[in-house]
Amino acid sequence: MASYLSGSKALFDAALLDPSFNSDGVRCRPLQSDDYDRNFMALLGQLTVVGDVSRDAWQARFREMRNAGCYYTIVFEDESTGRLVGAGTVFIESKFLRGLGRVGHIEDIVVDKECRGKRLGLRIIEQLKHLSRRAGAYKTILDCSEDNVGFYEKCGMTRKEVQMVVYADKPTPRL
Ligand SMILES: CC(C)(COP(=O)(O)OP(=O)(O)OC[C@H]1O[C@@H](n2cnc3c(N)ncnc32)[C@H](O)[C@@H]1OP(=O)(O)O)[C@@H](O)C(=O)NCCC(=O)NCCS
Repeated sequence: MASYLSGSKALFDAALLDPSFNSDGVRCRPLQSDDYDRNFMALLGQLTVVGDVSRDAWQARFREMRNAGCYYTIVFEDESTGRLVGAGTVFIESKFLRGLGRVGHIEDIVVDKECRGKRLGLRIIEQLKHLSRRAGAYKTILDCSEDNVGFYEKCGMTRKEVQMVVYADKPTPRL
């Protein structure tokens, strides 16, 4: 693990963040190892199914992601209440092509129902685009539903190609 993280609760080095996205009493910071005990999972539950995850299992996944060094999950915290009001992730894929290029994949964007329509979603995406650029990605991509195309266009992204998927009948454990 990188030395800047020893003794830190953060998923990644907070110095990588663009501080200009903090405003209106809402601060952007890396996900922390104690965010299970805040409302992180309830917030993600506003996006999709989160399942029944114990604190130990959550923290093991947090450590796995931190050690991988390519996951940048951010949260927006209401400074007056400590509640998490927004979250998003960019993970960085390393490739052999394009001169050993890197691609940023944006995932799991959510803004708390009470806080939507205040440009918080826009700030999440701008911060993730910033992190992706800093990590050396030559492009940043995401999949979304038709309903959210307008939102991502407002965030400066454009429609390209299509998403395809196959689901495993029964997920197998990691090799
Ligand atoms: C999608 C979501 C993240 C947007 O967050 P938000 O904080 O409400 O959005 P913002 O206030 O930053 O919106 C920025 C701009 O996009 C527009 N916008 C927001 N959602 C939109 C949508 N679904 N379609 C079209 N435009 C949208 C806003 O009107 C605003 O436009 P403006 O700049 O002209 O005022 C939020 O609604 C959410 O968490 N939804 C549930 C989870 C989800 O669907 N996540 C995305 C998964 S791909």
